[in-house]
Amino acid sequence: MRSFKRKILEEATLFVSLLVFLHILQTYSAEINIISDSQFLTEEDKLVSPDGTFQLGFFKPNGTKNRYLGIWYTKVSVQTVVWVANRNRPLTGASLGVVKIVNLGNLVIMNNTNDHVMWSSNTTSSGNTIAKLLDNGNLVVTNENNNKILWMSFDYPTDTLLPGMTYGKNFMTGQEWYISSWKNSIDPAPGEFTFIMDTRSYPQSLLKQGDVVKFRCGPWNGKRFSGSSFSQNNILTYTMVINKTEVALTYNLANSSVLVRSTLNSSGKYERSVWVEERKTWQVIFVLPRDNCDTHNICGPYGHCVMMSIQTCLCLDEKKFIPKNPKNWETANWYGGCVRRTPLDCKNGSDGFKRYSNVKLPDTQTSWFNISMTLKECQAICLNNCTCMAYANTDIRGEGSGCLLWFNDLIDIKLVSEGMGGQDIFVRMASSELDNEGTYIKIILMIVLPTIFILSLSSAWFCYTRRKQDKAEPTWEWESLQVHENKREAMELPLFSFSTIEKATASFSPDNKLGQGGFGPVYKGILKEGEIAVKRLSNTSSQGLNEFKNEVICISKLQHRNLVKLLGCSIDGDEKLLIYEYMPNRSLDFFIFDQIRSTLLDWTTRFRIIEGIARGLLYLHQDSRLRIIHRDLKPSNILLDLDMNPKISDFGIARSFGGNENEANTERVVGTHGYMSPEYAVAGLFSTKSDIFSFGVLVLEIISGKRNRRFVHSDNGTNLIGHAWTMHNEGRSLELVDTNLEEAINPSEVLKSIEVGLLCVQRSPDDRPNMSSVVRMLGNELGALPKPKQPAFFTERNLLAADISSTNATSSTNNLTITELVAR
Ligand SMILES: *[C@@H]1O[C@H](CO)[C@@H](O)[C@H](O)[C@H]1NC(C)=O
Ligand SMILES: *[C@@H]1O[C@H](CO)[C@@H](O)[C@H](O)[C@H]1NC(C)=O
Ligand SMILES: *[C@@H]1O[C@H](CO)[C@@H](O)[C@H](O)[C@H]1NC(C)=O
Ligand SMILES: *[C@@H]1O[C@H](CO)[C@@H](O)[C@H](O)[C@H]1NC(C)=O
Repeated sequence: MRSFKRKILEEATLFVSLLVFLHILQTYSAEINIISDSQFLTEEDKLVSPDGTFQLGFFKPNGTKNRYLGIWYTKVSVQTVVWVANRNRPLTGASLGVVKIVNLGNLVIMNNTNDHVMWSSNTTSSGNTIAKLLDNGNLVVTNENNNKILWMSFDYPTDTLLPGMTYGKNFMTGQEWYISSWKNSIDPAPGEFTFIMDTRSYPQSLLKQGDVVKFRCGPWNGKRFSGSSFSQNNILTYTMVINKTEVALTYNLANSSVLVRSTLNSSGKYERSVWVEERKTWQVIFVLPRDNCDTHNICGPYGHCVMMSIQTCLCLDEKKFIPKNPKNWETANWYGGCVRRTPLDCKNGSDGFKRYSNVKLPDTQTSWFNISMTLKECQAICLNNCTCMAYANTDIRGEGSGCLLWFNDLIDIKLVSEGMGGQDIFVRMASSELDNEGTYIKIILMIVLPTIFILSLSSAWFCYTRRKQDKAEPTWEWESLQVHENKREAMELPLFSFSTIEKATASFSPDNKLGQGGFGPVYKGILKEGEIAVKRLSNTSSQGLNEFKNEVICISKLQHRNLVKLLGCSIDGDEKLLIYEYMPNRSLDFFIFDQIRSTLLDWTTRFRIIEGIARGLLYLHQDSRLRIIHRDLKPSNILLDLDMNPKISDFGIARSFGGNENEANTERVVGTHGYMSPEYAVAGLFSTKSDIFSFGVLVLEIISGKRNRRFVHSDNGTNLIGHAWTMHNEGRSLELVDTNLEEAINPSEVLKSIEVGLLCVQRSPDDRPNMSSVVRMLGNELGALPKPKQPAFFTERNLLAADISSTNATSSTNNLTITELVAR
């Protein structure tokens, strides 16, 4: 009995000690400094760098049972893995992994149960081999006798670039240093995205999804990747080596107590972040691509992208380039990009180059370079080869050096703000584009205009010829029309019968009247296709008829999401009707000048409206095939669709121009007081710059909710423009904001908009920005705007005196016209 008891006790003791032993085996975790032939690393151990910054061990991604060997920061409380060994083959199930050195110098992860090798460094060595972790996070396998590095983890980055790592390619060994994203946040296996040095020609950097380039960092220019602000950072320094054996970029930290890392995350964003201990978070310093505008080649050849509410493409230079396929371009299908207005005439040897500054250099996929050439030699080579489209320096440090040439069209150009990493590029142009532009205009006027005139006759015939059999021909006078049109693209506009429209509007019932447009009342109508707005031209003065023709021709050629769409027209004797898409939210004045309704337009919407008008106007001025000057921009001509998208309407007095015509003079000043620029109101001179003026007034009205004309400030007797100017000079611009808005404005957007508004209403037309600058300024986050000069119409009182003197008013008939207008 006793011996039985003892036996039990003995066995129990044995069992307990076995348990304790097993327990120790389970949880005993050592911090070790090296892995060697005799020292291995179990799943519980950590290999720690000398100063403790990094450690290597096994980790389980959140919520999984898979175990990976990885490196992370010791002190960062959010486990941040910077490198993974067995990305593709995790340890699963119960069997334990171990890291050791086998077969003379091979570092392996082994499954302890079945001895399967899950991962290996594939190294061999004759002497004793050790693996250790350095303080920069580099795991190295070295020969202990001669310290020769056999392998290092920095040569095989996963999704993270750490300071001290190399990025690029070694041409001798074929080794490429690049990063690839994790599949997702819990699977470190290589995902779809890679960030890789493109060494096919002059080195640039690409972010790819599979084989598709999503984003490109421009070519290395000695300071940074062209177009990026990478190097403007005093924490990080870059070293780039470009030679026959390698292209290698290394970034180093000036202060190693700062933890910085760059990762390519599984949604394809390259993020650089800094650890902020106080907040226990990784603060993202920058992300690439920043926005949709960064999408590779989004605007096609010779296009560039401007970020508004959405991305918008522009030609590199609206004077020299035009959209290749305007129809696609207008429907936001930008892929075809832009082409030169004047084709190159290379064989003639007369081409030249135009310099563009602050450019992110184009894709170097089809380029050639020589880093010892000068810019002059570069130009000579480019000029002699008809496929060479541009050249630039390879290195912009100091005076600049080296030669980079592009063959074929230039793609993925970006214009960046001053000081944001752009540089000069010289783009090949036909000599006529470079010489005295006057000759060019003359040629246009002599040859193109008559041709266009004839074409416009034939294309404008549509509406009328189809009625010919019914009615006597109206005698339209075409001389006043200068519609520059291409016959091929003339479109047929649907012709509605008068009775259809009569029915749709209940015989133009007063109940259906939406308002009074410039040349007649506007009615709401209902067709079976949907709601329409019908503009009925008031009694046929010959004036009304011209405007009607003008509008039909102009607007039927224009398609843009910020212009109201003309659906058709109708002519029946004296009755002339224009049929438009119906805008349920009426017009801007209906909202901004109304005490109650203005509360419905929050700042975001107002800013979106400003941007939309800007885009519509840009299209009228520069991007459409005709150059259109609207001449009567005002809130009641800005219609709003269901989503409060602005649509410019009322082209009755718009005037179209040829590509190089800029300004005209008219005897008949038509427009609305309060929105007219001084040179137009007083001297009848109109140009795109007079529209810009009206746009400026619009912007100030949208911000303030006040009418320029009716606004009289009690203190200084100025109108809205004058008041805005005073407030701006006193640094009190924000006081201009509509009181209905004050709660939730974005001050920087508001201030930017006010400044843009003031720039647009400057007295001298030459000082006012053009529409593409306006669009750029509105879309630009950073960068200071130019300082506005004193606006026109500073006060109502000095209107005529001051502004007549500043424009070259000539004829007295014009002064008469303005008097009429004031009465309007
Ligand atoms: C490095 O950064 C730490 C923490 O930001 C700072 O305290 C230290 O002064 C810096 N050292 C140098 C040499 O700039
Ligand atoms: C990737 O980075 C972007 C930009 O910082 C971030 O918005 C996104 O959530 C990240 N995606 C993942 C999966 O971490
Ligand atoms: C060559 O260019 C010059 C200058 O632009 C022009 O006058 C000449 O007509 C051109 N010759 C040919 C054959 O195109
Ligand atoms: C122009 O450059 C292209 C691309 O390098 C080359 O193939 C072609 O031979 C060159 N032409 C001349 C005339 O040098």
